Amino acid sequence: MQSGHPQLGPILGLESSCDETAAAVLGGDGTILAEAVLSQQDHAAFGGVVPEIAARAHLAHMPGLVRQVLRTAGLEAGALGGVAASCGPGLIGGLIVGAGFAKGIALAAGLPFVAVNHLEAHALTARLPGLAPGGAAFPYLLLLLSGGHCQCVAVDGVGRYRLLGGTIDDAVGEAFDKVGKLLGLPWPGGPALERLAAQGDPARIAFPRPLLGRAGCDFSFSGLKTAVAQRVAPYPDGALPVQDAADIAAGFQAAVSAVLADRAGHALAMMPEAGLMVVAGGVAANGAIRAALAAVAAQRGVELVAPPIRLCTDNAVMVAWAGLERLRLGLTDSLDTAPRPRWPLAELARPAA
Ligand code: KG4
Ligand code: ZN
Repeated sequence: MQSGHPQLGPILGLESSCDETAAAVLGGDGTILAEAVLSQQDHAAFGGVVPEIAARAHLAHMPGLVRQVLRTAGLEAGALGGVAASCGPGLIGGLIVGAGFAKGIALAAGLPFVAVNHLEAHALTARLPGLAPGGAAFPYLLLLLSGGHCQCVAVDGVGRYRLLGGTIDDAVGEAFDKVGKLLGLPWPGGPALERLAAQGDPARIAFPRPLLGRAGCDFSFSGLKTAVAQRVAPYPDGALPVQDAADIAAGFQAAVSAVLADRAGHALAMMPEAGLMVVAGGVAANGAIRAALAAVAAQRGVELVAPPIRLCTDNAVMVAWAGLERLRLGLTDSLDTAPRPRWPLAELARPAA
């Protein structure tokens, strides 16, 4: 729990940047009063998120979710201290729905509005009360591992981020999803691939480990995906033996875990002032990856903070929390702030205090 902050009222947060429609209410001290996430199932048949379908689904579901979280929190909109919404990066149609809805509430109830950067929301989640011993004090290293992002970020403060390294081709979650598709798994591939890998032998197939041992902490996954494609190519649709598929999944997951651990080790060396390594994003749900990162953190003598899985994948608690962190610093946004499909963390740059 933070001290020294003027007591703020509860805050409503909305998330709609991709295919999760989510709303949450936090108390002014960061206590979660209510949260709701609806993961859109409408995209599975297309093997990826269809932006137009996502935007329409956000429009259909957001009002109900907001009503639900306000009811659970026992609050009317007028009792809130602020409204925050993901305003980028992400799919513009969905961002417009969430931001527009949040602005409407802020305007009607006369509340401050915070345009939250979705990546900043992932970056600050570890600071929610009770998640990290001592409250995840700045500075720390963030590994953002999601379907759209794969980055090592130095988190120096709210609005103060330095990109230490990132992917030069696919994001890690994207690699899981593409390999899942090659193996005939349902979309999104990550969770299904982890389940399949549990039946496989990670040592049978030695997949490449791109950039392992190289200087810096950039990532590359497209060569690894190509190596899987070559393994699968000789088999017509559906003819890959189940055990082979499991061994490929396990070998792929082992290669990704080794690469992530190596890159994280390099990032920690680039940021000796960090006492903490935080993982965020949907891929942080993967048990093998968590274990590999825990080992590297222990080796380097830093604490690993991996928020509970529901707070690693896209959610509105993190958006409300980022909004609260900004409100505490007096950082609000005008109602004509435009959502941004591209919004790198480095562009948030606030001068050092
Ligand atoms: O952060 P997230 O919910 O959405 C964004 O991309 O912003 O992350 C979704 C990504 C997908 O690529 C999904 O396949 C991956 O996270 N993912 C996993 C696991 N659970 C979700 N990847 C590997 N193992 C998992 N258990
Ligand atoms: Zn995300």
